[in-house]
Amino acid sequence: MKVRMRVPATTANLGPGFDVFGAALTIYNEFGAETAAEGKGGKWLFKGEGKKILVKGEKNLVWQSMKETFKLLGQTKYNLKNLNITVNAGIALSGGLGSSASAIVGGTALANALCGDKLTKAEIAELAIKIEGHPDNVIPAVFGGICVCCKNEQSSHGDIIHLPVPKLKVVLAVPSFELRTKRSRQILPKCVDLDDAVFNASRVAMLTAAFCSGDYSLLKKGMQDKIHQPYRGKMIPAMDAVLQAALDAGAYGAYLSGSGPTLAAFCDGKKCVEIQKAMTKVWKKESVSVKTFILDFDKRGLTKI
Ligand code: HSE
Repeated sequence: MKVRMRVPATTANLGPGFDVFGAALTIYNEFGAETAAEGKGGKWLFKGEGKKILVKGEKNLVWQSMKETFKLLGQTKYNLKNLNITVNAGIALSGGLGSSASAIVGGTALANALCGDKLTKAEIAELAIKIEGHPDNVIPAVFGGICVCCKNEQSSHGDIIHLPVPKLKVVLAVPSFELRTKRSRQILPKCVDLDDAVFNASRVAMLTAAFCSGDYSLLKKGMQDKIHQPYRGKMIPAMDAVLQAALDAGAYGAYLSGSGPTLAAFCDGKKCVEIQKAMTKVWKKESVSVKTFILDFDKRGLTKI
């Protein structure tokens, strides 16, 4: 038996919506699992991003997620000796583009498919969030589009709101250095200043209004943040200058993607190239080498291929 899954990259927070907002983008990781006779499995094939550094075996995040899924489904038949696993990654590792959420969702979905598709997409998301720890990459990775995750006591993803997907492009500037989400979360203060909370609440309202009304001029303020970007910006050279360059070149809004270091801008198609050049220019001045992408929003999320 052979199963394959495709999972999109995701950009979380969208500025002020820390651990709440996330959007799926048109770069993908593909995951495959094939059953083999006992003892003939255990082969790993990595292609694309991170192929030289991804770990094989027990510590691999795809496998760990598969194992959790087998456990949940009470399936004891599969192990690393009777499965071969492939990863073809388009998503940069530790870049703030949901690469770990993608591996977790991919692994969970592969194991679910091997067990006869017992879990729904919502149940896959629920388990994946338990493994990942926060919902805002997992939810758009599973469902696609732009999602708002409203955590509650009953489930880890809580209520999900799917916002209208704008006909905008997303320009990503991905610097060559990595920033691990764990570290990028550890540096955040445990308490939020009341003025900063009020600031972010007002920006989240503008962000939501921008998508619902189609008035994208609201994104400039609606993507501002005071609760995580100022702290994370200390680890990202010229972050504010790159974001400002994107706005000056005509982006509707710009922000730190997830926990970074990728910076993202939403814009009209005709402005993309100018914005891409402006962001690159600032980082080049700081001797930061950067890859850029011009993407659309993915509307399908997790897909069997
Ligand atoms: N909301 C998470 C964070 C996203 O900002 O830490 C991580 O990609």
